[in-house]
Amino acid sequence: MIIANWKCNGSKEMMFSWFENYSKEIDCGDVPPTVGVAPPLIYFGYFNDENTSLRFVEWGVQDVDHLDESRTGAISVDMLIDMACDFSIIGHSERRQIFNENNNLIRKKLKSLNKRIMTILCIGETKEENDKGITKDVLKEQLEIVNGLELDTEFTVAYEPVWAIGSGLTPEPKDINEIHKYIKDVVQSNSENNLSPKVLYGGSVTDKNAESFFKEEFVDGALVGGASLDGTIFAKIVNIFNRTK
Ligand code: 13P
Repeated sequence: MIIANWKCNGSKEMMFSWFENYSKEIDCGDVPPTVGVAPPLIYFGYFNDENTSLRFVEWGVQDVDHLDESRTGAISVDMLIDMACDFSIIGHSERRQIFNENNNLIRKKLKSLNKRIMTILCIGETKEENDKGITKDVLKEQLEIVNGLELDTEFTVAYEPVWAIGSGLTPEPKDINEIHKYIKDVVQSNSENNLSPKVLYGGSVTDKNAESFFKEEFVDGALVGGASLDGTIFAKIVNIFNRTK
């Protein structure tokens, strides 16, 4: 599974050239992997049209609200269902850091999405936490939000070390693999239905380094930021995934 997170980037012009470039480059035959794009919400309509080159591209949102009521600026899970949205990212480190979201709120979001819209929960440690050697403790705490929940079988975790996002730095592929195994084990032990989730890697993924991650056993795909803004490069990453997995 390869997911593009466009964050707060893009424009109408960018989107049309993205569609064109993606369609020219994508080469996945009849059984494409799951590919999703989370554009800024205001542009989502472009993913619902009859554009056949996007036949296999799902669309999702970068965040959601957990309630439907007087909450100015919010979008609810019911609205996502109404508009046939395929997935929602929650818990991104930028939401945690810039918008002060905590585990308590992210658990509410997970509960309102669970079994209704496919959920991608982002977790990851900061540079300081990594330096202190407490990465697994931090991830375990962030994963507490699944405790006791009967999770949807499509529930997915994205491991995104905060220090790797947009920095050009990444952990070693073998270290990512070990962390992904750990994440699967923690979710399996703590969820009500003992679900072993898919785990994506995110943080400075490009068409140059993607293969080294995808070769690892427990890497089930990628959540791509900067490199997903170029349709050609994103399609190359999808093609590499399809060849490697
Ligand atoms: P970059 O790929 O730009 O490092 O961003 C990763 C990310 O935050 C995806 O959610």
